[in-house]
Amino acid sequence: MRNIKFFDTTLRDGEQSAGVNLNLQEKLEIARQLERLRVDIIEAGFPASSKGDFEAVKQIAETVRTCSVTGLSRSVRSDIDAAWEALKGGAEPRLHLFIATSPIHMVHKLRMTPEQVIEAAVEAVKYAKRFFPIVQWSAEDACRSELPFLAKIVAEVIKAGASVINIPDTVGYITPKEYGEIFLYLQNNVQNIENFSLSAHCHDDLGMAVVNSLSAIEHGATQVECTINGIGERAGNAALEEIAVALHIRKDYYQVETRLNLQEIKRTSNLVSKLTGVVVPPNKAVVGKNAFAHESGIHQDGVLKEKTTYEIISPELVGVPSNSMVLGKHSGRHALRNRVEELGYTLSDEEINQLFVRFKELADKKKDITDDDLIALIFEEKFDHFKDFYQLSSIQVQYGTNQIPTAVVVLKDGKGNEIQEAATGSGSVEALYNTLERCFQTEVTLLDYRIESVGGGRDALAQVFVKVRVRDVETSGRGTAQDVLEASAKAYINAMNRVFMIEAMRAENEKVATS
Ligand code: KIV
Ligand code: ZN
Repeated sequence: MRNIKFFDTTLRDGEQSAGVNLNLQEKLEIARQLERLRVDIIEAGFPASSKGDFEAVKQIAETVRTCSVTGLSRSVRSDIDAAWEALKGGAEPRLHLFIATSPIHMVHKLRMTPEQVIEAAVEAVKYAKRFFPIVQWSAEDACRSELPFLAKIVAEVIKAGASVINIPDTVGYITPKEYGEIFLYLQNNVQNIENFSLSAHCHDDLGMAVVNSLSAIEHGATQVECTINGIGERAGNAALEEIAVALHIRKDYYQVETRLNLQEIKRTSNLVSKLTGVVVPPNKAVVGKNAFAHESGIHQDGVLKEKTTYEIISPELVGVPSNSMVLGKHSGRHALRNRVEELGYTLSDEEINQLFVRFKELADKKKDITDDDLIALIFEEKFDHFKDFYQLSSIQVQYGTNQIPTAVVVLKDGKGNEIQEAATGSGSVEALYNTLERCFQTEVTLLDYRIESVGGGRDALAQVFVKVRVRDVETSGRGTAQDVLEASAKAYINAMNRVFMIEAMRAENEKVATS
């Protein structure tokens, strides 16, 4: 059986989704989880694009030991130099070089002739080969390129040293049959191509990213590029979990193998959804909440008699837990640490100590602490805590059917200074958010507000997600508390802290660029 490599680009193409801004901690946690999932290659970012991306790629390359870590690079020496600096500490450094090859992109975007594009691509690959043992080369907008030109440039970059050739459907335009034909065309028209790896990279604008990727595999691709939950630019990328499970369940048809640990799929999906704030639709294949729910009476009856009547994928295959462990008031630090590790999170001793304090506080108010509660607390402790930025000290909200809702908020800034404000609104949340807007003294557009309970029960924790726009920054925030208003305030402050962090990083980048 052929082996198919999984190239995960959640942290690069996936992070290009509107409103998604992961910080360093969050990227590292996702990279560690991708390593547990046993993807072959992690594309950790675009090192030359910003100081933050550079640092994230560097730390991921130095942390991850059992996957190859790569970074994106335009076909220019300064990008390649930055990528080498970021990736050289990796277990198997690899560069992902790209240049556009379609007439539309060459004429309007690059303003280069096809000959100039070949020259730039060859020169970039040769330069990259001075440093990198593995160079992957991508023909951006390959699917709207002229095939003879595509074959010509592929032959040239192979001669220059590229060992993986990626054929992206950058704008999500191709159909499965046409995509397969491009792979066949290259195999029939580029000498020695059988000694190199062909890769598929599909976007989902027409809803065909997964099926196009599968078609590429059927027609000779040995690598697929995808993201967890299919997040990415515009309509997103091909969803890793859907390709992986299709290849597994229909091994009889595809006749290929992968090295993925499918049992880590659900956990990876949850982590990416929580950290990015991008919700998984309930009916999404493989990882949606309803993917294994049998609703109709006839189906339920069938499944009770024999699972395979209506179930082609068992929930256990992708790590959907059949039961949740419950901790309580009397559980000790040791039990907590064990469960945190079993859930797949890496916490330092100090973080465990802090978590234990929060756990005990919650256990005083809530009888059973479920895995979902614990994950919510871990997120608060590990990812939502911006030590050097703003923190909530207290809120007070007054609401009555015949009264004007009023809120009073006290915040602490990174230097420990207190900020206190009050405002009204037409509802409690609006009063609260008007007050917070005053605290931050800046106009904030609330693009989205979502509230959900962590598990069931009247004493369930409330989890709030917000999306905000401040000046030209769009980002999201989350907050968890037993009270919905406190969770709402925390989510808003979390989003604002991210805005300030992004702005600080941008200012830093500009300083570096002008110095
Ligand atoms: O979609 C695309 O073309 C890309 C390339 C940079 C590989 O993401
Ligand atoms: Zn892409």
